[in-house]
Amino acid sequence: MIYTITLNPTIDRLLFLEGTLTKGKNNRLRKVTYDIGGKGHHGSNAMNQLGVKNQALGFSGTTNAGKLENILLDKGIDYDFVEVYGKATRESYVILEEGIGGSILITEKGFTVTDYDIELLYEKVEKKVQKEDMVLIAGSTPPGFDLSDLEELLERLKRIGCFIACDLSGEALKKAVEIGVDFIKPNRFEVQELVPSDDNFLDHIKELSEKVDYLIVSLGKDGSICSHAGEVYEVSTPPVELVNDTGAGDCFVGTFLGSLSLNQPLTECLSLASACAADHVQYNDSSTFDINNARELQKVVTVKKIS
Ligand SMILES: Nc1ncnc2c1ncn2[C@@H]1O[C@H](COP(=O)(O)OP(=O)(O)OP(=O)(O)O)[C@@H](O)[C@H]1O
Ligand SMILES: [Mg+2]
Repeated sequence: MIYTITLNPTIDRLLFLEGTLTKGKNNRLRKVTYDIGGKGHHGSNAMNQLGVKNQALGFSGTTNAGKLENILLDKGIDYDFVEVYGKATRESYVILEEGIGGSILITEKGFTVTDYDIELLYEKVEKKVQKEDMVLIAGSTPPGFDLSDLEELLERLKRIGCFIACDLSGEALKKAVEIGVDFIKPNRFEVQELVPSDDNFLDHIKELSEKVDYLIVSLGKDGSICSHAGEVYEVSTPPVELVNDTGAGDCFVGTFLGSLSLNQPLTECLSLASACAADHVQYNDSSTFDINNARELQKVVTVKKIS
């Protein structure tokens, strides 16, 4: 079983503008749609597309619980959250201009969780997760959830002995590496927190891979570098028309872990993840991709051993 943990969930409110965003004018909307925004939820969605059973854990607010639940049900995502009473799951505003690729993202911080809420999460996780399971912790941490709380969560998972994957950034990512998790996927900015300089990049990657079994550095349209079992691979991307690359990393992580859990060879996991993420950037939301299109794109993805 795979569990995804989203500590700071969000609901994406996609605002489709008529024309471009302009100061001093009434910017009219063509339509508004909703999508899941939490990184772990994106991971669950990607695993679902591969038919890999998983459950989304983490926190959620009760005052707008129906809104998040409707989106998750619509996507067929199974969930079991620690509900934080009287709080609202934050909403993120994704502004999409007509005829222009990319998006403008505006996010709220998220509600504050208490020590009691955090304890309930530890209990839920310890009750569910078994040694043979995989756990993905993804996204930012909410106010009230300190680095020491993340450390405690990771230590408890280590004691269970499950596979721990982390898609985190900044100090949280550093902590995950220090504790020694099984998988991380920093992007080109996040990796700068871990390696001292761009010089001898591959040597730094090899050094890091002594602490983390599966280390993937994603480089947007330039593909990714993966280090595992003393070997380093360079993964290409298929050519696609970029519409919105938000969530590309989440799609990559979800499909990679999903295929790894199906015992697929590493090269297959990497090429499929690259293809799914590339297919995803052609859509304007942060979670959609088509697995059949991705299988076509996968045919031109190369995975080259470079060290
Ligand atoms: N324009 C693109 N064309 C093809 N593939 C892409 C493109 N952008 C991203 N990808 C694929 O998605 C992977 C992850 O992208 P990226 O490095 O942007 O992740 P990220 O910054 O973690 O994304 P996010 O956190 O928003 O989900 C890349 O390694 C690549 O395989
Ligand atoms: Mg990312």
